[in-house]
Amino acid sequence: MFSFNFNVDSSENCDKKDASIDTNEEKDTNDTTEEVIYGEVTFSTADCNNLIESCGIEETMITPDYKIYHIDLNVCEEKLKQSSDSKIKEALDKNSDVIPQVYEGGLKVWECSIDLCAYLKETNYELSNLNILELGCGIGLPGIYTLSRQPASVTFSDYNKEVLEFVTCPSVFFNSEDEDRPEVSFIYGDWSVIDRQLRHRFYDLILMSETIYDTTNYKILLKLLDLVLSDKGEVLLASKNHYFGVGGGTRLFEKAVENHGIFKHFLLKSYPEGLQREILKLARR
Ligand SMILES: C[S@@+](CC[C@H](N)C(=O)[O-])C[C@H]1O[C@@H](n2cnc3c(N)ncnc32)[C@H](O)[C@@H]1O
Repeated sequence: MFSFNFNVDSSENCDKKDASIDTNEEKDTNDTTEEVIYGEVTFSTADCNNLIESCGIEETMITPDYKIYHIDLNVCEEKLKQSSDSKIKEALDKNSDVIPQVYEGGLKVWECSIDLCAYLKETNYELSNLNILELGCGIGLPGIYTLSRQPASVTFSDYNKEVLEFVTCPSVFFNSEDEDRPEVSFIYGDWSVIDRQLRHRFYDLILMSETIYDTTNYKILLKLLDLVLSDKGEVLLASKNHYFGVGGGTRLFEKAVENHGIFKHFLLKSYPEGLQREILKLARR
């Protein structure tokens, strides 16, 4: 059976969790006295060209007639493993998809990000003049797709600064010409704090793929969405129905949304073949 290659203690395995968002296991901004690091990554053409040259480019097929180019992930991972000051080296050395609060899986193409790109493309989703935020972007395929559809701005955000620096920034750069690129920004940090760093007060469209595997994040994620989604804004979320080994998934997230009370949810598309996946939309009630 498929399961995330997550580095979690078996006692934290949350297969049996229910969807209550008031469990003690929920993370909250106030739970920790540790300083939570967040910030913005800026990039220069020269930095991006250097990375593209040293790592190379590979492609991910979105539909039979459409692909997105991005940094070669295997080469990039090898370079990070060799770097003594890499913060995610430990996770990469352990071959872990995720080590909670260290590395959250951004150096890999997850299949729901392809679903979300394909959905935006096949529905010809209206993106012009929108301020768009991709949360938990990793490479940022959905955000990259939007770049050529005349959005006002696209903000890419990820837990890990290194993911943005080594993969997202150069991939965004490679997929868009300087003169045509909308305003882009790259924000790293935990969902409990990144609103402090975002450039726009509100976003018209928030994109997410494979971000709801951990139920203990639901409360901070919904709080963040409430803080930064515009009144008429929409959230498009692509996810597996169930994450074996960690316990989150679309049904549990819907329950958390209902308990939270601020958003309504809609099922836009389901993929019944193989591991079941869905695209959900959230909007304010
Ligand atoms: C499984 S990866 C998915 C990456 C990408 N969206 C995709 O589908 O290919 C999960 C992403 O969620 C983000 N994430 C998870 N927990 C987070 C947290 N507490 N704060 C900020 N980001 C988080 C990470 O940035 C990570 O890239």
